[in-house]
Amino acid sequence: MSRRILVTSALPYANGSIHLGHLVEYLQTDIWVRFQKSRGHEVYYVCADDAHGTAIMLKAEQMGISPEQLIQEVSQEHQQDFAGFQIEFDQYHSTHSDENRYFASLIYERNRDGGHIATRPVRQFFDPERQLFLADRFIKGQCPKCGAPDQYGDSCENCGATYTPTELKTPYSTISGATPVMRESLHYFFKLPDFRDMLEAWTRSGHLQTEVANKLGEWFQAGLAEWDISRDAPYFGFEIPQAPGKYFYVWLDAPIGYMASFKALCARTPGLAFDDFWATDSKTELYHFIGKDIVYFHALFWPAMLHGANFRLPNGVFAHGFLTVNGTKMSKSRGTFIKARTYLEYLDPQYLRYYFAAKLVSGVEDLDLNLDDFVARVNADLVGKVVNIASRCAGFIQRHFDHRLVPVHHPLLTSCMDAGDSIAEHYEHRDFARALREIMSLADRINQYIDEQKPWALAKASPEDPQIAEICSLGLEAFRQLMTYLAPVLPGMSRQVQEFLNVKDLHWATRLQPLGAHTIRTFQPLLQRVEAEHVQAMIKASMEDLITPERTLPEPATTPAIEPIQPLIDLDSFLKVDLRVARILEAQLVEGADRLLRLLLDTGAGEKRQVFAGIRTAYDTPAQLIGRLTVMVANLAPRKMKFGVSEGMVLAAGPGGSDIYLLAPDTGAEPGMRIR
Ligand code: 2FM
Ligand code: ZN
Repeated sequence: MSRRILVTSALPYANGSIHLGHLVEYLQTDIWVRFQKSRGHEVYYVCADDAHGTAIMLKAEQMGISPEQLIQEVSQEHQQDFAGFQIEFDQYHSTHSDENRYFASLIYERNRDGGHIATRPVRQFFDPERQLFLADRFIKGQCPKCGAPDQYGDSCENCGATYTPTELKTPYSTISGATPVMRESLHYFFKLPDFRDMLEAWTRSGHLQTEVANKLGEWFQAGLAEWDISRDAPYFGFEIPQAPGKYFYVWLDAPIGYMASFKALCARTPGLAFDDFWATDSKTELYHFIGKDIVYFHALFWPAMLHGANFRLPNGVFAHGFLTVNGTKMSKSRGTFIKARTYLEYLDPQYLRYYFAAKLVSGVEDLDLNLDDFVARVNADLVGKVVNIASRCAGFIQRHFDHRLVPVHHPLLTSCMDAGDSIAEHYEHRDFARALREIMSLADRINQYIDEQKPWALAKASPEDPQIAEICSLGLEAFRQLMTYLAPVLPGMSRQVQEFLNVKDLHWATRLQPLGAHTIRTFQPLLQRVEAEHVQAMIKASMEDLITPERTLPEPATTPAIEPIQPLIDLDSFLKVDLRVARILEAQLVEGADRLLRLLLDTGAGEKRQVFAGIRTAYDTPAQLIGRLTVMVANLAPRKMKFGVSEGMVLAAGPGGSDIYLLAPDTGAEPGMRIR
């Protein structure tokens, strides 16, 4: 019986690029969705950018553009990256959309009218300069225990002490540098404890993986707290109905984005009814794929909000683990923090689709991308086993049998056909690793059959021997079955195979009808081997991504990475860089930019240049710079920035933070002097 299924992946934040860590989830979901579609079910896969919040607001400001413009650009980039990995959404939307505003307000109002919203004042640090409340991650100061400077508001990286931001000595706002003050404001709370009984029953009735359900058990034991769902202006998000100046916290409207995206899909799909998928009496299925870090939001807040607003609950929330690369956390300095786009410049997306699938199981275990194993496995399985079957058989059929297959019956074909049921079971339960193991063991048996039959030996004696047609027809019949099973993982290759085998589709059920007497087309290479050098080049390029970093907010301090040396340049290229001594005439803070100073430089011969330099963290009393000499790149094309045009660049070095050293020549130099 055909099922009607709505599937979601978590919504990526609209302030950064998609990287391989994200892709575990989108590939897992996409494979599952393609599998369900192949089985003939009616499936909709929706997603969106998660576009609200302080981080996005500040980042847009830093870049000198509006948040709307930022999220628009990021959405384009995300969608290109997903398409590059052959991830096919039925709808890709945004949480900053009319549909989402409508549903966020509706869900809030229904909960409010049901008595599930409380208000009370909250005291919190406030940045008096920027006039905004500071989330803990925007406050730093001296550790109350060991006195280490520049520690985050919750814990000290130096001595490991944990504390609250109010305990920090000399706290400062990481946004403006100002000393924060305590301020009180009215906040809105979602009364999660109202839903405790419903949630306990729901979490125990098979909608969650065992380990997730157990975790929730611990949370119920510890007690549920009310959830703060409001943020004060300025905030990039939706204003709360009848609460001027108060905005929905980004996490309130994020999961509602699933509904909004689906609503947008309904609007352009005749006959698709929103209520069929969201009303409490719905007969359809709803599944959310998420990372294990956001279980609290999806297995507690989300079902509670839905229930309080009279919508249906999900049938399943499927959490997956994190990605490690070569056994450890992805690392920018090791080049293993790999962006989707960087990967695509070097490697075929299907390699990663296959490798992740081969390692994905139904639980929340972390998944390791071991790069040597990646090369070995993709080459051995996809190229060495699967593609090999087709390339070994196609030539004979093309050359000596006029592209025509002959009908064959063989127990091997029957076992390939039969295996479809258990392979489907594994896909259904998201045990892709097991599904692929089964498929590869069929591939081994088929290759073994061809090895034993040796069509090449028969061809030597008599190229038109009908036995050759039988062996190779069997090989290609079996190959088609394997490709039916692999199609959810390898959509690109499966399209090429349809073309080659001259078939309409590779839906799951088609494996039961052999091709029989059928004409195929000419075989074209299906997949290249992975070259280890390409993997190396990708790692190197990922290291280089460090040097032109993505325009993101400063990340929590880590040990400064030693940046890799750049590719060699010749002397001529170097000599093109015009380095000059310059004197700093003016140095000022730049309002709204916590890392920039505006410098006015005397570059000699009466010429003055304005340069914006990212050295404020080290020179936050800019007056100390006035009168000093520095070295500047005098022939850098002017760049328009939010705060004005920057007409050059000053040279500085250091690990960052308060340790950035402006390069300044000894006295005796004069503005305008060229340095070689
Ligand atoms: O953790 C994250 O990246 C969030 N942007 C996920 C949101 S999922 C859903 F709730 F929207
Ligand atoms: Zn400390």
